[in-house]
Amino acid sequence: MQRTLVEVIAAKRDGQALSAEEVQHLIRAFSSGEMADYQMAAFLMAVFFRGMTDAETVALTEAMLHSGRVLDLSSVAGFKVDKHSTGGVGDKVSICLAPMVAACGVRVPMVSGRGLGHTGGTLDKLEAIEGFSTILSAAQFVKIVDEVGACLIGQTAEIAPADKRIYALRDVTATVESIPLIVASILSKKLAEGIDGLVLDVKVGRGAFMKDEKSARELAEALVRVGTRAGKKVVAVLTDMSAPLGVAVGNANETREALEVLHGRGPADVVECTLVLGSEMLAIAGVARTIDEARDMLVKVVANGRARAVMAALVAAQGGDSRVVNEPDRLAVAPVTVDVVAKQAGIVQEVDALEIGLASVAMGAGRTRADQPVDHQVGISVLKKPGAVVQVGDMLARLHVRDAATSAEAAARVAEAFSIGDGAPAPLPLVIGTIR
Ligand code: URA
Repeated sequence: MQRTLVEVIAAKRDGQALSAEEVQHLIRAFSSGEMADYQMAAFLMAVFFRGMTDAETVALTEAMLHSGRVLDLSSVAGFKVDKHSTGGVGDKVSICLAPMVAACGVRVPMVSGRGLGHTGGTLDKLEAIEGFSTILSAAQFVKIVDEVGACLIGQTAEIAPADKRIYALRDVTATVESIPLIVASILSKKLAEGIDGLVLDVKVGRGAFMKDEKSARELAEALVRVGTRAGKKVVAVLTDMSAPLGVAVGNANETREALEVLHGRGPADVVECTLVLGSEMLAIAGVARTIDEARDMLVKVVANGRARAVMAALVAAQGGDSRVVNEPDRLAVAPVTVDVVAKQAGIVQEVDALEIGLASVAMGAGRTRADQPVDHQVGISVLKKPGAVVQVGDMLARLHVRDAATSAEAAARVAEAFSIGDGAPAPLPLVIGTIR
């Protein structure tokens, strides 16, 4: 006999595993309004304490995925693969990665997010390009993926609506930090894109959602296990997010830097992160036999201009001014600058990505509530990284602001993010591990 909703909640409270049908019933009941928010909140807290098996997490992912529309990309030939980052500061990789991978013959349907909290969002960065639209119909999305090879849009109300409501409840019931709930939340949205494979960039460190390697690894392993059981090819790469990625933080500033990567001029860490994730995407798509071969292919499409051509076609197809691709300086960055300089000589020990991210949000580049607008032009250029030797008066960072007079607090915060000491800091590898 089918258990009632209260009995299912009680079963999870008591540590029992639920059947796939029970998990499905719960999500359907929640979506239809039969299950109240307070019942879902109780269930989420039970999951927080009792956890879920992989089978339950797969069932939860699939139930949330089917609470809305699953994009049908079956008319698009070839392997379709996306990349998802758990979020960080200065992470503009999607913007250069998508055209590079598409230029190697793999389709990249990418549904991205907006900035929230201290982390930036790909959509806000792309919208710094004049005319660029991230709100397209499903039919336009499929057409652009087919014709251009990649398309980057925002999550529509139709994609995994149960996740949206559940996430809002988790946010106010202290149940965000639960591995099965995070896994189902991320994968339900990504699998709704109609992809065949997914590469996850699980960030680790002060500027990341997961602050330590152990919890990031646990999340990455669960994402790979559950995604694989859901029938997709999934790889997760753990990458460092203790310091911001690259130099640029802020919307136009970051888009400009991502476009520089397509000219072979990006900062070494952004280039490396893009090549590592892109190589995994080409390998799971089967267009490269080895990771080394995949890397060579990506380097080549930058050198021969193919990646820039795909990006220009993508920007034009999404309504943007494609001249920015060859002339990234067309992207307007706020004209007033405020420099943060070293007050002591020594070696930079740390550049706290969280503080830089929070300063950037306070300047208007990000948002603290989902409905706030962002200022595309303000940002921070992080000019010194851990290990850099500095003298008194050397520039550590430059703020791009509207008004220098009101930027003192942000400048102080950016200055606080830098710690300068005597010895060389322990080197932090960009790539901490790969889970296949
Ligand atoms: N990102 C998501 O989309 N969901 C979570 O639960 C956490 C991070």
